[in-house]
Amino acid sequence: MSDSLLITGASQLLTLRGRGARRGDALSQLGIVPDGAVLVSDGRIAAVGPTNMVEKLAAARKAEKVEVAGRVVLPGFVDSHTHLVHAASRAEEYELKIQGASYEEIAKKGGGILNSVKLLRAATSQQLKRRARAALETFAAYGTTTIEAKSGYGLDVASELKVLSLHKELSAEQPIEIASTFLGAHVVPLEFRGKANGPKEYVKLLTDWLIPEVASNGLAEFCDVFCDRGAFTRGQSKEVLTAGLKHKLIPRLHAEQLSRTGGTQLAVELEAASCDHLEQINRTDIRALAKSDTVATLLPGCDFHLGLKQYAPARKLIEAGAIVALATDYNPGTSPTMSMPMILSLACTQLRMTPAEAITAATINAAYSLGRHNRIGSLEVGKQADLAVFEVEDYREIPYYFGVNTCWLTLKSGSVIYAAA
Ligand code: NIG
Ligand code: FE
Repeated sequence: MSDSLLITGASQLLTLRGRGARRGDALSQLGIVPDGAVLVSDGRIAAVGPTNMVEKLAAARKAEKVEVAGRVVLPGFVDSHTHLVHAASRAEEYELKIQGASYEEIAKKGGGILNSVKLLRAATSQQLKRRARAALETFAAYGTTTIEAKSGYGLDVASELKVLSLHKELSAEQPIEIASTFLGAHVVPLEFRGKANGPKEYVKLLTDWLIPEVASNGLAEFCDVFCDRGAFTRGQSKEVLTAGLKHKLIPRLHAEQLSRTGGTQLAVELEAASCDHLEQINRTDIRALAKSDTVATLLPGCDFHLGLKQYAPARKLIEAGAIVALATDYNPGTSPTMSMPMILSLACTQLRMTPAEAITAATINAAYSLGRHNRIGSLEVGKQADLAVFEVEDYREIPYYFGVNTCWLTLKSGSVIYAAA
């Protein structure tokens, strides 16, 4: 079998060519090649350009051929915020929310994240892996080739390490690359809640025991905190992220989702890779993000699923010059979807991002937030051949269609990981 592959006949080949993260007007520049082709060799991109030029290359002649016949080709989506490993759905809470209970009310009654913690602790690694594997196949079926995955439903030493080890095993056993994040500071677990010093003791467990353990075993690249009302304060978040930094875990942050806590300022101060959610940010936060290299990762799936009206101010962030990314936030409580195309649809209609801006946010900018922009996120010579082909003629039709899957083919490092029936 040939180790090279020639993809020809894309109605639009979105290269996303260019340097680094995109801000402002650069978010709209998709580097489109009409009637485009990609030559893949040994899992990497060997050539990109118009079909009539690429197919003339000597290496192209001996390559296996895939004619995509007028479909759109783009870089595989990079989903930079997921809670991949969890035990079960929380559909019963979904119904309660529809009937009027708020996310925070459910959490106060022991539902919410603590509900998922109880279920995860009781589950075996095998059960968790089976569910995560099925989810990974779905991610691929919607054009995603790399994801970030957070722990945070274990919240004790053994369970957190169990989940982070699963990230590592899953990354090795199936094609989607997983960037692992330690989110021990998701909420204070039940066993630390009764006593006055409980939260303090839990933060100490994280900073003095779990973070060093996670880092020394190479189980995570990033450290995240849910900095919000009902979770961790800005001060506690700083303690955890600073301990992470000491052990070379790069900070990310869940900030200003339910209330404004000053998390965004903290993320910028610590030069976090990403600051996520941002529904409640103000002008000062927007300015701080715009001046920084911290990516503003927007998660409109949460607001959609929770039925909330206040989405993050994407237009203001883009106009101010922040690096905006989009992700699913796949999790059982606030965003049970693996579909980046659905997130693009929400970004367009609810965040008022254009289809081009949304695609840039879901590819190269998300890759930047994971420190992988030199390897993935665009279709350029030398990069990994991670790409998605959609059954549409015009890239705007990717977000335009919603609730249906128009993904036709997904390639990871040049190998097919999903093909529509
Ligand atoms: O990103 N906000 C905190 N964490 C998740 C929700 C987790 C859950 O409800 O299970 C989020 O929205
Ligand atoms: Fe999240």
